[in-house]
Amino acid sequence: MKLILRPLTIFALTTLVVGCAVGSDPDADVISSSSPLASKEAACNKVPAGFTQAEWDKLLLHTPLPAVPPDTTNAVAEDPAARKLGQKLFFDPGFSGPLKVASDLGQVGDVGKVACSSCHSGPMFDDRRSIPRTVSLGADFHTRNAPALVNSSFFTWTNWGGRFAAQWELPMPVTESGVIMNGNRLAVAHRIFDVYKSAYEKVFGPLEPALGTDLARFPGAGKPKAAGAADGPWEAMAPDDQTIVNRIFVNYGKALAAYFRVLVSEDSPFDRFMAGKKEALSDEAQAGARLFVGKAKCSGCHSGPLFTGNGFHNLGVPQTGEKVPASDDGRFKDVPPLLASGMNVAGTFSDDPVSGAAKLANLTNPMPESTRGAFRTPSLRGVAVTEPYMHSGQLATLEEVVAFYDQGGGTPVSGTKAPFLQPLGLTAEEKAELVAFLGALTGKEVKAKYTSP
Ligand code: HEC
Ligand code: HEC
Repeated sequence: MKLILRPLTIFALTTLVVGCAVGSDPDADVISSSSPLASKEAACNKVPAGFTQAEWDKLLLHTPLPAVPPDTTNAVAEDPAARKLGQKLFFDPGFSGPLKVASDLGQVGDVGKVACSSCHSGPMFDDRRSIPRTVSLGADFHTRNAPALVNSSFFTWTNWGGRFAAQWELPMPVTESGVIMNGNRLAVAHRIFDVYKSAYEKVFGPLEPALGTDLARFPGAGKPKAAGAADGPWEAMAPDDQTIVNRIFVNYGKALAAYFRVLVSEDSPFDRFMAGKKEALSDEAQAGARLFVGKAKCSGCHSGPLFTGNGFHNLGVPQTGEKVPASDDGRFKDVPPLLASGMNVAGTFSDDPVSGAAKLANLTNPMPESTRGAFRTPSLRGVAVTEPYMHSGQLATLEEVVAFYDQGGGTPVSGTKAPFLQPLGLTAEEKAELVAFLGALTGKEVKAKYTSP
């Protein structure tokens, strides 16, 4: 029997069954019942044996993964032509400058060896290759470990310390960073003109023809000089020509960001279990799920469908390990360059500077002391295949991560540890259960058509 629902009833039901509909037909059981309470139970597949109602309700908050949130500061975020261009750019090592350290990528001085994909590969697009397995290695050693790009478009802030307010802000400093790609914006503009002209023009309109002919106006290489350095080719350019190059550079970032948005992985064993497939989770992982929202207090920070509340916390992760810097102030140090950037969500290159400015409104330079040594709570989807862990890859395995939390976290080198972290008193069995649960958060791999240029 189907009920005809009035809007108010629909509202009541939607409120009650939020999070329960994944994988089941929301129209079938929910709506055929006459009592909203009975409906809730049907839609949420009845609390399975071993779970209390409260545990089940908390777990429902972690599923399903919603759609990627809009980014109004990037007008081409949903443009398929921009996404296709971004996908090509992502795998192209041609935007990188000379290597400063010899590695599997090449010899010192080799150019054109580092692509975005050099540090973002594998099923979750995280760092699968840098040796040592702590910080990432491009033109030189970075100070941190490359996080997964899969599902990264869901985050409110980009990077471990929230250095960027939108993903399109990231590729420009990354391309010019001496430790990552060691490239420069003039070389990027020329390469876009030489190799990607038609794909670029389809999305962003005509490129300045002089880029192809006039090396006096547009030198082959150059970027704004470092503070205190002598003027270079960039400083000799006319301001209008600098703006032309900056615009191309930003559009390179926006095309790349359009591509990240399709790198999504959902439908993990955990999601399937919550949707009613009771065989999807082992008993051990089910016990881990209860610990996650209970005794182990993980969901206090790893909340919601992405398993992050988008907050920044100082856990006192030790600054130890090969090539790991002796200290890292995290959010405290990453916000000032975000605010100072002329290429952020509030600036002239933003497609929605008003909402961009609103997003930055609560940030200050300097940031409050409480942000010193604080890092963004990472997503836990796919975490079983993205070792090593923490901002500089300090912990090698999930077992080590769980043991770290069991001790109540570490002793911060800088800043103050989040008071929420306290010793948990987990048994060996409980630790294994938590690890089993984390292992059940790996979803389907991104579509194969997105994994190569
Ligand atoms: C040398 C290795 C390396 C290369 C090459 C590299 N990255 Fe990264 N990537 C990192 C590291 C390390 C971080 C984290 C940096 C931080 O938090 O300070 C990161 C972070 C990111 C993030 C943030 C994800 C999140 O969870 O917020 C995105 C997006 C990203 N990179 C995209 C790119 C793009 C696009 C390129 C090419 C233009 C690129 N990366 C090239 C190492 C690399
Ligand atoms: C106080 C907030 C907080 C709590 C509570 C918390 N986490 Fe975290 N988690 C974080 C932050 C922040 C990081 C990154 C820390 C860093 O790199 O310095 C992190 C990192 C991780 C990582 C590494 C992910 C990666 O990609 O490197 C895993 C795994 C993890 N947490 C699991 C858990 C589990 C399991 C629990 C419960 C036992 C838990 N967390 C409790 C905030 C928290």
